[in-house]
Amino acid sequence: MGFMALWDSRFKKSLADNALKFSSSINIDGKLFNEDIDGSKAHVNMLVKQKIILAGEDKLILKALEEIRKEISSGKLKLDWRKEDIHSLIENRLVEKIGETGKKLHTARSRNDQIALDERLYMKKEIAQLIKLTRTLQKSLLKKAEQYKNTIVPGYTHLQRAQPILFAHHLLAYISMFERDIERLNDCMKRANKSPLGAGALSGTTLPIDRSYSAKLLGMNGVLENSLDAVAGRDVMIELISSCSITMMHLSRLSEELVLWSSQEFSFAQFDDSFSTGSSLMPQKKNPDIAELVRGKVGRVYGSLFGLLTVMKALPLAYNRDMQEDKVHLFEAVDTTKDCLHLTSELLKHAHFNKKRFEKELNGDLLLSTDLVDYLVRKNVPFRKAHNIVGKIVAVCVDQNIKLNQLSITEYKKVSPKFENDIFKLLTALASVKNKKSQGSTSPQEVEKQLKYWKNKIK
Ligand code: ARG
Repeated sequence: MGFMALWDSRFKKSLADNALKFSSSINIDGKLFNEDIDGSKAHVNMLVKQKIILAGEDKLILKALEEIRKEISSGKLKLDWRKEDIHSLIENRLVEKIGETGKKLHTARSRNDQIALDERLYMKKEIAQLIKLTRTLQKSLLKKAEQYKNTIVPGYTHLQRAQPILFAHHLLAYISMFERDIERLNDCMKRANKSPLGAGALSGTTLPIDRSYSAKLLGMNGVLENSLDAVAGRDVMIELISSCSITMMHLSRLSEELVLWSSQEFSFAQFDDSFSTGSSLMPQKKNPDIAELVRGKVGRVYGSLFGLLTVMKALPLAYNRDMQEDKVHLFEAVDTTKDCLHLTSELLKHAHFNKKRFEKELNGDLLLSTDLVDYLVRKNVPFRKAHNIVGKIVAVCVDQNIKLNQLSITEYKKVSPKFENDIFKLLTALASVKNKKSQGSTSPQEVEKQLKYWKNKIK
């Protein structure tokens, strides 16, 4: 006798091979065997406490489930697609091992609440992993921020030079973004950590189960209150994938900058050889493939988000087989995001930045124009007028192809008598960052404050 589907007694024929192959999900949900066994163990413990199965039967089932766990993880029990899904595979093996008692495992349970539970247990585990990896990336960023806290670089808007900033400030901006990603994950965790177990196929059960008890055994913070919602909802999964999408968007921005900075034009970042690749044709090439791949892999995660949103769109309550496709998207999004977080941390850890690359070049550069505007404002010139005056100075410099500190005070005074010789000490990149006064600015004191804050927080 071969594999018997869990549901086949009402049928005269067994499922056609190609239909079984098409509908089998074991190559995907096989990944959930640990969660499936954990869920089943909690269920069995609840069944015996409620006297729905006999004392002693639980021991037999629990022991066999642990054996099956070992059989699967060692590869002894193959994830054969003919077994339809991970739930069927495990239940079949259980009955093979302990006979009739094994047939009690599925009492007061459906695969609908079972898979919803497995997925939530998986999400709990993976959310914790994602948070850990995001923290590690923050640590890599923080270490570089410390290392380069005196390095001055151009800050950009529209990828045009805007104002000088400390490179540490730039890196700290990413730490703040990733912090919000962690907050989003923590928030998602609250909603993921509710048990659907005991919802049955859709409407609950006539048997005297204790849902709170099995939820507690699984370390979950209560049960989902509506049995239809418990089996039909996938919004928390969508929330997790959207959280991953936002993290990937952040990673793509960082990756893009790393790619730009490592170009000869920027000549600012150097990646370790162990994180760079060459060209099969051009012997001189050293390419930033890791950062490029992170940037490219965003497509997978955004794809997963739209994939699952589309699977769920307009599905009538409660369970529909369409929903089996959810795991493809969930796993893709989570695995890709974890990989990208990890590789970006590693890439950064081994990256070098050219401390002296910009400093001289920025002294007197037009990106100090705003400092001149503020100078005039301090002399009581209305801001809009001051902006206009400095605009004229910029035009003269552009015409003569000189820097702001190469224009004579006489020329300055021709545009406005308010300019005095003291403007020249404002016209260095260092003076510009040092003169910043506002909270959260790029001034060395403010950056030091941020560094301290994150050092405390991230440890
Ligand atoms: N493999 C199924 C899934 O992942 C498990 C639930 C099956 N339920 C059902 N009624 N066919 O969605």
